[in-house]
Amino acid sequence: MSFMQIQDLCVHYPIRGGFFNTVIDHIYAVDGISLSFDRGKAYGLVGESGCGKSTTGKAIIGLEKITSGKVFYEGQDVTNQRRKRNSAYNRDIQMIFQDSHSSMNPRKRVLDILAEPIRNFMSLSPQEERKRVNELLEIVGMNEDVLLKYPHEFSGGQKQRLGIARAVACNPKLIIADEPVSALDLSVQAQVLNFMKDIQEEYGLSYLFISHDLGVVKHMCDYISVMYKGRIVESGTRQDIYENPQHIYTSRLLSAIPSIDPETRMERKKIRQQVELNYLKKQHKYYDEHGKAYPLVDLSPTHKAALAIAGRE
Ligand SMILES: Nc1ncnc2c1ncn2[C@@H]1O[C@H](COP(=O)(O)OP(=O)(O)O)[C@@H](O)[C@H]1O
Ligand SMILES: [Mg+2]
Repeated sequence: MSFMQIQDLCVHYPIRGGFFNTVIDHIYAVDGISLSFDRGKAYGLVGESGCGKSTTGKAIIGLEKITSGKVFYEGQDVTNQRRKRNSAYNRDIQMIFQDSHSSMNPRKRVLDILAEPIRNFMSLSPQEERKRVNELLEIVGMNEDVLLKYPHEFSGGQKQRLGIARAVACNPKLIIADEPVSALDLSVQAQVLNFMKDIQEEYGLSYLFISHDLGVVKHMCDYISVMYKGRIVESGTRQDIYENPQHIYTSRLLSAIPSIDPETRMERKKIRQQVELNYLKKQHKYYDEHGKAYPLVDLSPTHKAALAIAGRE
């Protein structure tokens, strides 16, 4: 059973203008997204830059105001309680960002950065707190001699580890990871991903893993949703999405996965060009008159795609 559901989430930003600075239009950053999360599973949310991925993550955790839609956690409607300090929701749902540096206070030492969530959510004695901080460092493969250092003294990969340590401090149920490796070198990316996978298995965590690259989420995620202009165009298991994509936008994103192997690079480039031509020719069949995705239709118990219903094309 899923422990958390997002129903028809919308985040619309008003655009103001004119002499009276009134609302003249809206940016439909997130425009009707539904997701549900099972324990111990990893979910991918993928789409090109600007399609609304970060806004979705921030709205779920409570950093962004929801225009409409609902968030249910453990059977309770928490839509209006997401930002309550010290609530179970705030403890159990954590987020890590692409740029972990800017989410850490540069004037605080690692000890205080890691202890902060513990102080907020657990009442531990100073000794117990210190013990928990040491445990956290061990979980992310770092040792005690970093405790008195400041964030700027770490490399990108190390900072991301600290961000993860802070996110897991109070045994969360879901971690929303917004492009957690996009700013890292390829070799470090693989390390951080592997290690996120390890702690997921060890602690039965669920992830909402946000990325612009379908290649990155492939090995991480059990289920994937592909997002385009604020809506989900296709969702399914890893197999549904990678082996049987049904929406033209999913195929396009798949062909855009960069090839690391120089031998196949030219070949992939050719395929990419072909997919792109096909996309330009046929895309109109996949979007409504406003260029937006259609409502999702069920293709199998796990697989949904935003396809035009016969007769509407
Ligand atoms: N605070 C904001 N005010 C107005 N528009 C915003 C704001 N934040 C994001 N947007 C717009 O919402 C859309 C989705 O942004 P975002 O969620 O950051 O996309 P992604 O993470 O997929 O790149 C973009 O068009 C972006 O310009
Ligand atoms: Mg983003």
